[in-house]
Amino acid sequence: MAPNPLVRLQGISKVFPGGIVGLDAVDLDIASGEFLTLLGPSGCGKTTSLRVIAGFESPSSGTVLLDGRDITALWPFDRPVNTVFQDYALFPHMNVAENVGFGLSLRKLAGAEQTKRVRAALDMVGLADKLGARVSELSGGQRQRVALARAIVCEPRVLLLDEPLSALDAHLREQMQVELKRLQARLGTTFVMVTHDQTEALSISDRIVVMNKGRIEQIAPPATLYDRPATRFVASFIGTMNLLQSRFVGRDGERLRFAAGELPLEASSDSGETPTAGDTRTIGVRPEDFLAANEAAEGTAPARVSGVVFHGRTLRLHAELGQGTPIVIDAPRQAEGFQFSVGDVAHISLRRGANCPMLPG
Ligand SMILES: Nc1ncnc2c1ncn2[C@@H]1O[C@H](COP(=O)(O)OP(=O)(O)O)[C@@H](O)[C@H]1O
Ligand SMILES: [Mg+2]
Repeated sequence: MAPNPLVRLQGISKVFPGGIVGLDAVDLDIASGEFLTLLGPSGCGKTTSLRVIAGFESPSSGTVLLDGRDITALWPFDRPVNTVFQDYALFPHMNVAENVGFGLSLRKLAGAEQTKRVRAALDMVGLADKLGARVSELSGGQRQRVALARAIVCEPRVLLLDEPLSALDAHLREQMQVELKRLQARLGTTFVMVTHDQTEALSISDRIVVMNKGRIEQIAPPATLYDRPATRFVASFIGTMNLLQSRFVGRDGERLRFAAGELPLEASSDSGETPTAGDTRTIGVRPEDFLAANEAAEGTAPARVSGVVFHGRTLRLHAELGQGTPIVIDAPRQAEGFQFSVGDVAHISLRRGANCPMLPG
């Protein structure tokens, strides 16, 4: 945990009427200036976490700290926190400038100062020329920017964003991801974003919190989550991961040698744990970390091809190892020796230097 977090959730639980558990003993530190993303399937507690930080939801137990101060009992308006809602929640009867200035009017800011800040905020999101426009005249992407401007104009310490890009089409969404990241860097404000889209989380975040059933599974930077998932849930939620029941064979310096049936595998031992010979563990192997060849060789195991899927630069091969274990392999389309059709036998091996995590269970 960070030494001086900006926000600290301490033992936060939320039980809704009817006994539905929204959050279950969540501990989370959010550092000042970071872009943190809460990621997980629908219903895992992402929105509830944001609402607890914003003050729209009071936790059943636990404490919310900001700069070390207990703010659990503060009203939303008294917290230096603003939220961008999924549906933007703009006021249709107000123009762009009025929407953006709304929070400042509530704070009774002088007219001239208010105008200056509204202009600056709209400038930040590239909408300086839309001050007088009606909300109904704007495109989806522009509405999204107005909602952002309205949230940053109050200069919050923490900006909360609940699925901010989910209403946009794929192309615009990718563009807005880049813009959002740039805006965050320029403002230096702490952003806490919610998404159920792992690609979005991986491309935009400094750190990602993976949630499942009201609990935190893992908190890590994107590359660590991808390369070193701590749990089976994280391994299967982030990208595609083959989870192979494997027998421990022995140790080779830093490498732990396993076998999934006939297929030799290697895992890194960064947990420090060395299993005993004959123990079984789950080894996670990314599809791109397998090689497939037409000929058998030292270190390969045969697999029957059951499907070949075009993925653009790569082909995805679905196959079955001897014991009926399904595996997925990605190979560059031009790769030599990668000419397979359904029914063929592919000889599978682990790519040299592949970094495979050893997972519990
Ligand atoms: N006001 C509420 N009343 C009852 N149950 C709720 C309420 N809000 C959320 N929940 C439940 O709490 C769990 C977490 O919800 P939520 O935080 O909205 O999930 P997410 O945003 O990750 O999809 C879900 O099971 C949801 O049905
Ligand atoms: Mg939600």
